[in-house]
Amino acid sequence: MEQLLQNKVCIITGAAQGIGKAIAEQFAADGGIVYACDRQPNSMNEWSEECSRKYVTKVIPLYFDITDTVEVKNAFMAINKKEGKIDALINNAGVVFNKKLGMIVREEMELMFKINVIAVIEMIQLAARLMARNKRGSIVNMASVTAMLGSPGQVAYSATKGAIVSVTKSAAKELAPSGIRVNAVAPGIIKTERFTELYEATGDKIDERIRRIALGRLGNPEDIANACAFLASDRSSYISGQILGVDGCASI
Ligand SMILES: NC(=O)c1ccc[n+]([C@@H]2O[C@H](COP(=O)([O-])OP(=O)(O)OC[C@H]3O[C@@H](n4cnc5c(N)ncnc54)[C@H](O)[C@@H]3O)[C@@H](O)[C@H]2O)c1
Repeated sequence: MEQLLQNKVCIITGAAQGIGKAIAEQFAADGGIVYACDRQPNSMNEWSEECSRKYVTKVIPLYFDITDTVEVKNAFMAINKKEGKIDALINNAGVVFNKKLGMIVREEMELMFKINVIAVIEMIQLAARLMARNKRGSIVNMASVTAMLGSPGQVAYSATKGAIVSVTKSAAKELAPSGIRVNAVAPGIIKTERFTELYEATGDKIDERIRRIALGRLGNPEDIANACAFLASDRSSYISGQILGVDGCASI
């Protein structure tokens, strides 16, 4: 039986850790040719070799900052030249400053918008141009449940994710005639390195938060990876412009 992402050329940003790493691994397990991208030099060298062996596919690490338009362009063009196509782009890389009003400063807000929104729009533009040549492609953006539900300490961060919701819906309409689908996944609270750091630092009442999750548990990176794999695959070929909440039915 054909695998979900067999021979699909997939670019995943922010793949060195957390959700992005789980997405890259799941895509490899599903038969994809995975370009795992991150700005942390050499962080994925050994892991990508292991994944390639384990899943009998290609997992290729690439190191660049997604805000560097020249490096992004060079990387995407090189992938397209080598593979002859780009099937999926997963815009996962993102940063967060959890700071309440009165504490957040302009530099932090600008950095979040630069990485979480502007770089994403630029990568969509670039990938769409290459995907349009084959009249097919799937782009998945990483939003957040905070975009819809709000969250204290995340006024600026949730605004970047709200922007991603809008970007997703408009890009889906604009790119549909080129055969390109654009969707977003909106994770709830996911157990990643970042989560552990955050809750260890703030001592937030996590038990209370879990009580507000109908399914009664935090999310795993694999929960997000599975949603991304579905949206990247042809099994979702009639789905575009959607924001898929993967949050255990949360009401933060
Ligand atoms: N963890 C959660 O609970 C949660 C919830 C909702 C949404 N999200 C979103 O999911 C995505 C991944 O979250 P995570 O928890 O795995 O984060 P993380 O901080 O653990 O990992 C993010 C990765 O992105 C990379 N990155 C950041 N800026 C980059 C840049 N400019 N260029 C290249 N790489 C860059 C980092 O090096 C890192 O490897 C983010 O967009 C985040 O906003 C996470």
